[in-house]
Amino acid sequence: LLMIVTIDGVAASGKSSVSSGVAQALGVPYVSSGLLYRAATLLGLEASLDLHAAPGLLTLLGAHPVRLEPLAGGNRVWQGERELTDDLHSSRVDRGVSVVAALPEVREWVDAQLRALPEPFVAEGRDMGTNVFPHASHKFYLTASARIRAERRARERPEDVPAIEAALQRRDELDTVQSAPAPDALVIDTGPLDLQGVIDTILTRLP
Ligand code: C5P
Repeated sequence: LLMIVTIDGVAASGKSSVSSGVAQALGVPYVSSGLLYRAATLLGLEASLDLHAAPGLLTLLGAHPVRLEPLAGGNRVWQGERELTDDLHSSRVDRGVSVVAALPEVREWVDAQLRALPEPFVAEGRDMGTNVFPHASHKFYLTASARIRAERRARERPEDVPAIEAALQRRDELDTVQSAPAPDALVIDTGPLDLQGVIDTILTRLP
């Protein structure tokens, strides 16, 4: 069946693991929009660009096109022959990405790539159900307290829980504008659930 499922939510709410699980159960790819914002940030940092200035970033992205490869098991990001995927989750990129994601020109660059993808798929991010795919057939929004999210993320980052929690809260604030749940999204508090519990909550609502 042709459809788009959107899974939005706050930073480190488990969106990519949940989306991957839902996508694999449905036998469709999932699309991680955050990776494109992260790729723009990484390339801007590597080129020592001012991350607040869209023209330089857009020139860079136009000259060296970035490609998102949506797979059910995990997304990969390429710039030509170079794979960027493993460099996208550093704390340096974490710190810079919200500034880059606040630039309307960068959001248009991401949105155009996402809207060009063939259906069906599961799309994960902040504004998939609101701005990018408002016509999606099924929409979900994941939340959890900052402490729970920091404890989960501490397993993937070298910093300790309080430092990660502070960084997450800072990113939540910077991302507030594009992070509102769609009015027709089901909001799921993932705090009391494990990964499979969240996946199952979503799958029971899909045809
Ligand atoms: O989902 P992830 O945490 O990897 O996203 C990284 C950053 O990209 C977010 O903190 C946010 O600034 C930005 N983002 C966004 N809109 C999306 C997805 C991500 O603004 N749809």
